Amino acid sequence: MWNDRQNVPLVDSFCTQSPIIPVVAIESSSQAVALAQALLDGGINIIEITLRTEAALDSMQLIAQSLPDMTIAAGTVLNPHQYQQSIDAGAQLVISPGITTDLLIKGENNAVPLLPGVSSASEVMTILDHGYARCKFFPAQAAGSFAMLNALKGPFEQVKFCPTGGITQENAKQFLALSNVMCVGGSWLSPKALINQNDWQQISQIAKDSLEICQQ
Ligand code: 3PG
Repeated sequence: MWNDRQNVPLVDSFCTQSPIIPVVAIESSSQAVALAQALLDGGINIIEITLRTEAALDSMQLIAQSLPDMTIAAGTVLNPHQYQQSIDAGAQLVISPGITTDLLIKGENNAVPLLPGVSSASEVMTILDHGYARCKFFPAQAAGSFAMLNALKGPFEQVKFCPTGGITQENAKQFLALSNVMCVGGSWLSPKALINQNDWQQISQIAKDSLEICQQ
């Protein structure tokens, strides 16, 4: 009997509040609030801030203080230490590109839930064993795309995925049409060049256009 140690209802509430989760890398925390505000203005109220930059944790803290309407997910979390740092910085959800036993244990029954990354049937079986039924499917395009997600439906009908890695404004809707896809994630909403130019208006526009395409 499968036992929910992920807090699936809470994860579902985060992962269905927007069909798209922008995956961002923030180089300067001074731009964090403006970037998050631009996404909010474009209609997106969840952001995955990846721990790929030095500014990530400060950025989470600043957004948590200034924009209570924005749900903050920490991304590229690789170990329990980074998991804890993300919680301390104000993350409400923790996302990892893959799984380790330590990370899965840290996430079990944690008030700040984990969305673990998988790319194979064996990894889905591993997360199920640890009480998880919601996961990131990464790298989505390289790991089999629509065909793989469709194939995973058979043995794992209770599992839902957030594909990321190679999702674009053009293909997002096709992923969202799959019944085991709850949302998609991607970096296309926050191009580095636009962040460097502080072009928040254009970032809002990409968010609006992407939502419109996905909701058509
Ligand atoms: C992630 O961490 O989810 C991915 O790096 C995002 O992939 P993308 O840049 O192809 O959207």
